Amino acid sequence: MAFKLLWVVVFTILTYGEGLRSTSEVCNPSDLKGLASFKSGIIEDSSDRLTKWVGLNCCKWEGISCDDTSGRVTEIRLPGFISTDGFLLQSQMKGWLSPSVALISSLEVIDLGGLIGLSGTIPTFIGFRLPKLRKLILYSNNLTGPLPESIGKLSNLEELVLYENQLSGSLPSILGSLKNLNRVLLYSNRFTGMIPDSITNLKNLAQLDLHSNSLSGHIPHRIADLQFLEELDLSSNLLTGSIPLSLTNLTAISVLYLDTNYLQGPIPFPSRSEQMPSLSFLRLHSNLLTGRIPSMFGNLVSLQRVSLANNKLIGAIPTSLGNLSALTELYLYGNRLSGRVPKSIGLLSHLILLDISHNLIRGPLPLQMSSLQNVQTLDLSFNRLNLSSIPKWVAELPSLSRIYLAGCGIQGKIPHFLQTTPSPIQELDLSDNDLSGSIPTWLGSLTQLYSLNLSRNSLASTIPDSITKLQDLGMLDLHSNKLTGSTSQVFEIGHRFPDGSLTYIDLSDNSFSSGIDQIGTGAQIGIRFLNLSNNILQGSLPSSIGRLKAMEIIDLSSNKLGSNLPDSLANLSSLQKMKLQKNRFSGKIPSGFLKLIKLKDMDLSDNLLVGEIPVGKPLSDFPISCYSGNRGLCGKPLTPCKL
Ligand SMILES: *[C@@H]1O[C@H](CO)[C@@H](O)[C@H](O)[C@H]1NC(C)=O
Ligand SMILES: *[C@@H]1O[C@H](CO)[C@@H](O)[C@H](O)[C@H]1NC(C)=O
Ligand SMILES: *[C@@H]1O[C@H](CO)[C@@H](O)[C@H](O)[C@H]1NC(C)=O
Ligand SMILES: *[C@@H]1O[C@H](CO)[C@@H](O)[C@H](O)[C@H]1NC(C)=O
Ligand SMILES: *[C@@H]1O[C@H](CO)[C@@H](O)[C@H](O)[C@H]1NC(C)=O
Ligand SMILES: *[C@@H]1O[C@H](CO)[C@@H](O)[C@H](O)[C@H]1NC(C)=O
Ligand SMILES: *[C@@H]1O[C@H](CO)[C@@H](O)[C@H](O)[C@H]1NC(C)=O
Repeated sequence: MAFKLLWVVVFTILTYGEGLRSTSEVCNPSDLKGLASFKSGIIEDSSDRLTKWVGLNCCKWEGISCDDTSGRVTEIRLPGFISTDGFLLQSQMKGWLSPSVALISSLEVIDLGGLIGLSGTIPTFIGFRLPKLRKLILYSNNLTGPLPESIGKLSNLEELVLYENQLSGSLPSILGSLKNLNRVLLYSNRFTGMIPDSITNLKNLAQLDLHSNSLSGHIPHRIADLQFLEELDLSSNLLTGSIPLSLTNLTAISVLYLDTNYLQGPIPFPSRSEQMPSLSFLRLHSNLLTGRIPSMFGNLVSLQRVSLANNKLIGAIPTSLGNLSALTELYLYGNRLSGRVPKSIGLLSHLILLDISHNLIRGPLPLQMSSLQNVQTLDLSFNRLNLSSIPKWVAELPSLSRIYLAGCGIQGKIPHFLQTTPSPIQELDLSDNDLSGSIPTWLGSLTQLYSLNLSRNSLASTIPDSITKLQDLGMLDLHSNKLTGSTSQVFEIGHRFPDGSLTYIDLSDNSFSSGIDQIGTGAQIGIRFLNLSNNILQGSLPSSIGRLKAMEIIDLSSNKLGSNLPDSLANLSSLQKMKLQKNRFSGKIPSGFLKLIKLKDMDLSDNLLVGEIPVGKPLSDFPISCYSGNRGLCGKPLTPCKL
């Protein structure tokens, strides 16, 4: 007996000597056991916090807090984001969440959020073992399985933060019995089924975020019982039915996101003034909403950002909108709104973004719009505005740098006054208008231009050399015009900088005849999309084309390009689509094409190619039509070659 005791003491000193020396305290055995199990479930800890968990006084371990009187462990806080000296460091723990954490029966806080690699499930019996739990924080991990029913026993639970995992199953209706719940963040999981009605019993709920799951059914009508609710996010689910009228009774609501569902019927609020007085952020876009924007919409005086886009809303933009003096962003695109833009819109002095594109709004635009001092982005594209010309005041708006006036019935030349806007233009879309004349040389002076879309007009000129000065250009779309001459200037954009920012070029459907020899000689290594089809380009493809390694889609079809296909094409390892049909390419198909494993779509038809199609994938998978109309191709998928 004595011998055995001695052995235990010696063992303990050997193993936990350090802990015993620094303090004589020893943690509660079940707490120790629970923590040891937790630690042994973790196979990798990039923060090294767990390696310092030695000794028996677990209360001194990093991330652990204990109750002074009972000595029991009350908190495990090992979040993935660690702040040291004002820097936020992301650490990772890989392994399994041991169900034995439930042995630590006085736990009030579990914060293991953002560890990325923590797998396993939420212990089924958690509710029976951890009656004091106030915060369960396990977001941004790799947890699977359901939210266990026993969670309904955690009557002290205030925060349930489990977003960004792979939790599944339906939300237990028993959730509704947790009267102290204040924050429920379960977004970006795989929850299915209906939102339980019982959730409306959570009288202390301030934040309910269930977005990006697969929840179906209706929004519970009694949701308005949640009198303290400030944030409700049910977006990106499969919800149906209408928006409950009762929402107007949510007096504390500030954030309401119901977008990207299948909600039908009208927008039911506001029905009188002073409803939802704090509502600041409202997103109802991408639903099936019908009817008019309520005429009293302007009573939601706290609104800052509103999106009603991509619904089936009809009628005019209500005049009352002008009363939303805090409004900074308004998205109404993709509806069937008609009538004129109300004059009152000019009162929105804080407005930064206005997008009313893809509606049925008629012109003329009210002159009051010229007082939108803070507007940076204006998108009026594809309405029935029939502007004839770009209003002069547009170019005088002091903050405007992103101008979208596609399909606005603009005629004549690109106006000179766009050269001297108070804010440098970054994005300009004048596509699908009736512009004629030339691409002006002064475009080269818009040095901050990032995207330029002049497609689908009647511009007839060469591309000015000055365009090579647009060092920041990322997107250039000039398709379907009457442009002539060389494309080489375009391949020189970004020359001065190693990577160049240009990723998208569409010059298709014009009358360009030369310049293909310059492709890949510039610095545009980042280009991902290139369409030069339907021109009259001559010459051969230079081997420098192989330098454009980021290329995903290339369309050179319907030109007069000839000679052999360069072997270097096989170096475009990101290529998904390669359209070379209707040219005069001759010689054999380079065997290197077999390296283009990402290629999903290819067309070499109607050229002068000969010889055996290189044997293997992906070439053998394309249909016969991709090879037809050549001079003498053979082999799979065509008929076998003659020996
Ligand atoms: C997530 O868990 C699955 C198994 O459930 C595992 O295969 C995967 O590697 C884990 N991911 C991370 C980031 O640890
Ligand atoms: C809003 O709340 C009031 C008082 O609690 C109630 O009488 C009314 O029916 C509620 N309105 C809706 C639309 O639920
Ligand atoms: C805007 O609010 C004022 C009172 O603040 C009100 O008199 C006016 O009718 C409102 N305008 C619109 C168009 O609703
Ligand atoms: C557009 O405006 C022009 C001139 O202002 C006019 O001639 C034309 O008929 C209008 N087109 C439509 C469809 O209203
Ligand atoms: C340019 O405008 C046309 C017509 O409006 C549109 O179809 C095209 O997608 C736009 N280009 C880009 C790259 O967005
Ligand atoms: C290239 O442009 C032509 C004409 O504008 C168009 O028909 C074709 O679909 C485009 N190719 C790709 C791959 O987008
Ligand atoms: C493909 O790229 C490699 C290295 O990036 C280079 O050595 C080779 O010459 C290139 N092949 C062709 C055919 O251009």
